[in-house]
Amino acid sequence: MKDRIIFATETSCDETAAAVVVNGRKVLSNVISSQVEIHREYGGVIPEIAARKHLEAINFVINEAKEKAGIEFKDVTAFAGTVGPGLVGALLVGLNAAKALSLVYEKPFMGVNHLNAHVCANYLESDFEPPFICLLVSGGHTRLIRVNSYESHEVLGETLDDAAGEAYDKVARLLGLPYPGGPYLDKLAQQGDRNRFKFPEANVGGFDFSFSGLKTAVMRTCRAYAGKEMPKADIAASFQEVVSETLIKKTLRAAEVYDTGKIALSGGVAANSEVRRKFFSRENNDFIVHAPEFRFCTDNAAMIAGAAYFGSSITKDLDIEVFSRDK
Ligand code: KG4
Ligand code: ZN
Repeated sequence: MKDRIIFATETSCDETAAAVVVNGRKVLSNVISSQVEIHREYGGVIPEIAARKHLEAINFVINEAKEKAGIEFKDVTAFAGTVGPGLVGALLVGLNAAKALSLVYEKPFMGVNHLNAHVCANYLESDFEPPFICLLVSGGHTRLIRVNSYESHEVLGETLDDAAGEAYDKVARLLGLPYPGGPYLDKLAQQGDRNRFKFPEANVGGFDFSFSGLKTAVMRTCRAYAGKEMPKADIAASFQEVVSETLIKKTLRAAEVYDTGKIALSGGVAANSEVRRKFFSRENNDFIVHAPEFRFCTDNAAMIAGAAYFGSSITKDLDIEVFSRDK
């Protein structure tokens, strides 16, 4: 069969990204221009600034992805872009670029759901295959997904309030760490005592999650140290312990209920050292854990190209509009 070369863009939040992927797995290029430094001074992403910065970067990033892949646009099988969920103004930039390329080069256009793309990040540079249970933990979402096949994803549960990454970022802010706080908190926690504080684990039924109570408990503890030296590393480690325990417990339960020994991680928090350690330490002959390479955990366009290839929840309609929240 002829190789399918997908050229994808991704601009759902604060990363301007473009990538070229062959047959959903082989990554020829994966270019990411991050706006993190710009948003850091505000302590979070400012949507208007994000959209403007995407506009400034998108042509350069697209060209770089094409050059690095060593292809010409005429070689591309289809052009793909993220439809949502994400920041509407930001999404429009990457999606319209993908639509324009498809019209100019007379190739099919594919609109991709960002969350399905995070799941498909597991196929990049790997031979990992469905069925499996996927724990998607990013800055905007926390979901347990039953991936029955490449095309069929069933959401088993999700967060009722904050996403895991959001909780990391908010707690990191309380500890005075830079934005986005997840990776900084991860590092700080490695020097702390995870048993020093007993933060509460949310008691929500089924496969849903909740992290806002935990965040509030951490906030109260931080306030109790007002005017005194805060044991930041211990707070970070104790917080991380609860989050990682919750994530592994719910995921193991899903694996048991759906009788599968195959688990995949995805999203930015899948880059977390303690989350990875807890999951991978459970691996044995009957229990396989997979996670994308670090560069494919956080937002990137290679996963958008992968999702376009594998066909999970894509649209080929050029009139498709961007959306901020997943239905
Ligand atoms: O998947 P992603 O790049 O963007 C969304 O789609 O939201 O995830 C970004 C999130 C941020 O909240 C960031 O703090 C978190 O992933 N993150 C981490 C780590 N690396 C990134 N959280 C904890 N530990 C990490 N090492
Ligand atoms: Zn994401």
